[in-house]
Amino acid sequence: MTLLHSMTVPLGERSYPIYIGEGLLRDAAWVGELLKARKTAVVSNDVVAPLYADAIHAARSGAETHDIILPDGEVHKTLATASKIFDELIEHRFARDDLIVALGGGVIGDMAGFAAACYQRGIAFVQIPTTLLSQVDSSVGGKTGVNHPRGKNMIGAFHQPRAVIIDIATLSSLPLRELRAGLAEVVKYGLICNPAFFEWLESHAEKLVSRDTETLAYAIYHSCQTKAAIVARDEREQGERALLNFGHTFGHAIESVTGYSSWLHGEAVAAGMLMAASLSERCGLLSRSDVARISSLLQRLGLRTDARGELSAESARLAMSVDKKVQKGRIRLILLRSLGEAFVSDDYPADALTSTLEAHLS
Ligand code: NAD
Ligand code: GLY
Repeated sequence: MTLLHSMTVPLGERSYPIYIGEGLLRDAAWVGELLKARKTAVVSNDVVAPLYADAIHAARSGAETHDIILPDGEVHKTLATASKIFDELIEHRFARDDLIVALGGGVIGDMAGFAAACYQRGIAFVQIPTTLLSQVDSSVGGKTGVNHPRGKNMIGAFHQPRAVIIDIATLSSLPLRELRAGLAEVVKYGLICNPAFFEWLESHAEKLVSRDTETLAYAIYHSCQTKAAIVARDEREQGERALLNFGHTFGHAIESVTGYSSWLHGEAVAAGMLMAASLSERCGLLSRSDVARISSLLQRLGLRTDARGELSAESARLAMSVDKKVQKGRIRLILLRSLGEAFVSDDYPADALTSTLEAHLS
């Protein structure tokens, strides 16, 4: 195995390491040290477990380990599915000092983390993210949860993992469409706070899509570092962390109106980021050429930039109004002051939002 990068998410007594490398899961002894516990539950799904659960069993080398295999897909990110995790933990008499391992993408990570947050009021868990999106975003920062039919991630808890193990080798089996969706969240970090990283992405777009290991490792490292720093300053999203939701309120509306099935989360975020940029332009903040640069990068990464014909502006507005970012009846959105500088706003002209929704959706 090759450990390429490591870092700490500095949160006092809840600090934890992130390891990024190639072939990390093949080093059973090294992984075993990180998964030390009396009992371990490996929460995964029927796509990922056949590919990578053996590596976890080898790392546990005969210590008590139970697989909890869930059906695959965002549509199963529900309280009912989380309840199956609780059933298994109770069945196998898991105690508070045992360990949950989340092996999979963001859906598994969010649900396993939620189960870990709630089971006996909180047990430890380790994130082993296997999609690019989960490696650059969802496995870091401790947001866990499930969807409600009326809104995404409406039920959840903050619960930090004990460690995050990012093995880039797992991306070799990831469908290209999923890789592209993960790249949307990578672009997000450039847009919200780092223009130099946005430029680096512009000059490495094709290498990223072709899964060049070193290029992906740098993008993952940079993304995790950016997220870790923001989470360290604002763990519970009282302020700055909200910037990580850039494009998400629009994206969540696309996902929920279309039933969490035809759009991947990252795809919806990509379209949502362009809508947020376009609204920023309508508010006189961002230039047309900057919006065009964002659109061009997303397209080179193979991402859709609008949802025309798939949902109405009115249905999107309704969905946005149940989002967690609504305060005192105003939809709070993340806008761009420039490429690489985002801020939270509920003070934009209502007709600018309406015309943005109409331009990108109807
Ligand atoms: P996902 O978990 O559904 O994974 C995408 C698909 O890839 C699934 O079919 C999965 O089984 C498959 N897969 C996973 N790893 C694979 C591999 N190595 N090889 C082959 N197939 C593989 O989707 P995602 O994009 O990883 O995550 C999306 C979820 O993450 C959403 O529910 C979103 O709300 C959540 N999210 C959470 C946070 C957070 O901070 N907690 C941040 C961003 C997104
Ligand atoms: N993905 C948003 C956050 O972690 O805060």
